[in-house]
Amino acid sequence: MTDSRLAIIVLAAGQGTRMKSSVPKVLHRLAGVPIVGHVLATARELDPAHIVVVVRHERDTVAATISEIMPEAVLVDQDEIPGTGRAVEQGIGALPADFDGDVMIVSGDVPLLDAGTLSGLLDAHRDGAAAATLLSAMWEDATGYGRIIRTADGAVDRIVEQKDATPEELEVHEVNAGSYLFQLRPLREQLALVETHNAQGEKYITDVIHLLRATGAEVTAVVVEQNWIVGGINDRSQLSDAARRLNSMIVRGWQLAGVSILDPETTWIDLAATIGEDVELLPGTMILGPTAIERGARIGPDTSLDACEIGEGAIIRRTDATLAVIGAGAEVGPFAYLRPGTYLGENGKIGTFVETKNSKIGAGSKVPHLSYIGDATVGEESNLGAGTITSNYDGVTKHPTTFGSHVKGGSHTVYVAPVRIGDGAYTGAGTTVRKDVPAGALAINVAPQRNMTGWVEAKRPGTAAAKAAAASDAADQA
Ligand code: UD1
Ligand code: MG
Repeated sequence: MTDSRLAIIVLAAGQGTRMKSSVPKVLHRLAGVPIVGHVLATARELDPAHIVVVVRHERDTVAATISEIMPEAVLVDQDEIPGTGRAVEQGIGALPADFDGDVMIVSGDVPLLDAGTLSGLLDAHRDGAAAATLLSAMWEDATGYGRIIRTADGAVDRIVEQKDATPEELEVHEVNAGSYLFQLRPLREQLALVETHNAQGEKYITDVIHLLRATGAEVTAVVVEQNWIVGGINDRSQLSDAARRLNSMIVRGWQLAGVSILDPETTWIDLAATIGEDVELLPGTMILGPTAIERGARIGPDTSLDACEIGEGAIIRRTDATLAVIGAGAEVGPFAYLRPGTYLGENGKIGTFVETKNSKIGAGSKVPHLSYIGDATVGEESNLGAGTITSNYDGVTKHPTTFGSHVKGGSHTVYVAPVRIGDGAYTGAGTTVRKDVPAGALAINVAPQRNMTGWVEAKRPGTAAAKAAAASDAADQA
């Protein structure tokens, strides 16, 4: 049920300098979802009355992604005053005038912070009737984080940022995880007093803590149980750490759901994927985007499937496939490259060193070796021999090739599109098919073979080939 007394402010206006990237930090992806998308999903789980996202850096790109993921989120533009405090100040400015509940603040760059941890923080905040409750963590190496400075009796007194801390303060291991709950009214009052006299010239949200304490208000901190939950992503090393952590949770989830995954370290699964029971994922496999794999399929090793549908019991080996649909019992690979629009029917085969694109290959049909099939339709139970090429591009336009059912295509055959091959037709090896082939016909256009006897002795005398030929002649005569 919607918590009418809760508003969540997501901070996503920062520049993310440490990523050294042209892509805004919060749009870098983990398990196929932008960093900020994870934060939004968590916020949605808490079902607050309001979700506000503060943006500034790469505003339009970030805003477009946020609106796509969460159309109901209210976007607020941060002005030129920098800092998390300013971001919060402007975020709460977007709340309805009659809202007077608790404000939860989360960073758009902390993707693994889960709804369970945050609702624990919310409960602690409400149970303690505190003006502010913050999440803290005990880090062995606290570098980069704000330190939590407590009074002699252990109460939270203030937060000091790394860049503003004295050497003694830098020795503190308890850090600010960057998520807070505030009662709206005292937050608004104290934020108005926060200055920018600090090493970064920013308005810090963290300064509100000491200001609240000075008014005699209650401030508490809840120490998080596992540090990785609150790990912020500021650089690409932290991004890969978080990605691996999330992936291992996703892999474990599928293992418990009945999927065999031999090597969790090298198997990567996006959040949007769905996988049936008794599927086997072999080492080096990436299941990306909204890929759906039916029960009993075997995928890998060394396979990448992006937004594919794989039928029951299909076998996909050492393959790279995007937007492909593979029927039940079909076989793909090893070393196949399936481009968008590939459909392979039940029990069909796309074999070794085969590239396909925008092509529908019917049930039981096979393209087993060394072929390119593009813009083609193949009926059922046809077999296209080794080295089949659909010559679909005339340099300007792409054209279709249509094969019927029970076609037997010869090896090393080029089909110059547009062209149609009728049901049950054959083509001879090495044929260049430029005209339609009627059902049941054999098409062949290879020139008759001429053997020029003695050519090697006449034209290449004394070579190894000539000697071999002479020895062979002598043996035949003996
Ligand atoms: C902040 C905290 C620090 C804490 C750490 C935890 C402050 C002053 N410091 O530091 O105590 O240990 O998080 O991860 O709050 N943002 C804006 N507008 C801005 C600046 C930042 O929206 O003007 C957003 C960023 O996009 C980011 C979040 O706020 O999502 C945190 O900003 P960041 O610059 O990463 O702060 P830290 O230096 O990590
Ligand atoms: Mg940060």
